[in-house]
Amino acid sequence: MQIAIDGPAGSGKSTIAKRVANQLGFIYCDTGAMYRTATVMALRKGLKLDDEAAIMAALKPLTITFKPAPEGQLVFMDGEDVTLAIRQEDATNNVSQVSALPKVREEMVKRQRAIAAANDIVMDGRDIGTTVLPQAEVKIFMIASVQKRAERRYKENVEKGIMTPVAVLAEEIEARDHKDSTRAVSPLRKAADAVEIDSSNMTIDQEVAEIIALANQKR
Ligand code: C5P
Repeated sequence: MQIAIDGPAGSGKSTIAKRVANQLGFIYCDTGAMYRTATVMALRKGLKLDDEAAIMAALKPLTITFKPAPEGQLVFMDGEDVTLAIRQEDATNNVSQVSALPKVREEMVKRQRAIAAANDIVMDGRDIGTTVLPQAEVKIFMIASVQKRAERRYKENVEKGIMTPVAVLAEEIEARDHKDSTRAVSPLRKAADAVEIDSSNMTIDQEVAEIIALANQKR
């Protein structure tokens, strides 16, 4: 079974997706982490973020792997733990430029489908229900107000020692949503057959329960 969870930045997708996957015994794939890892690689190598050929040459041999951990999921780039590096501001504020490159998307979609082919999966991102797994049995589109999303991101950041004010985070979130929704290749969009969940006034438990109920209907 495939469960696709899409939505804008900070809509709570990953928290919910992880819990749903745990409860159902499915694997969880955070596709945003893959684009973030490609961005960290490009920034470290000093590549121009619009230089698709250079980024692709470096991305092709790059391995991006996940490892389940009690505190969430660890992300590795060529074996190096980049779990924290991919959440830093420079990665966050540049990832939309890298993820808009058509060849980068093509490569990531190929990798994501390979992961999904072998497992029951919960996958979250921007284009999972529309492009990566259009046959997914359950498709969710999660939304929440910009204010709520900025507040959530602020709390997560503080735990990591990042102190960007809520107002700045709200601006960054809006800018990233704009770029992700207006890009030419598989922009952030709700699939026609996705169920929309507005998490602004729901608890995590309620959201998880709603998705599990939808999954159980399809089993
Ligand atoms: O989900 P997260 O906020 O970590 O995603 C980081 C960025 O990766 C997004 O802003 C978007 O530019 C890109 N992304 C994407 N397609 C996906 C997942 C993420 O373009 N399926």
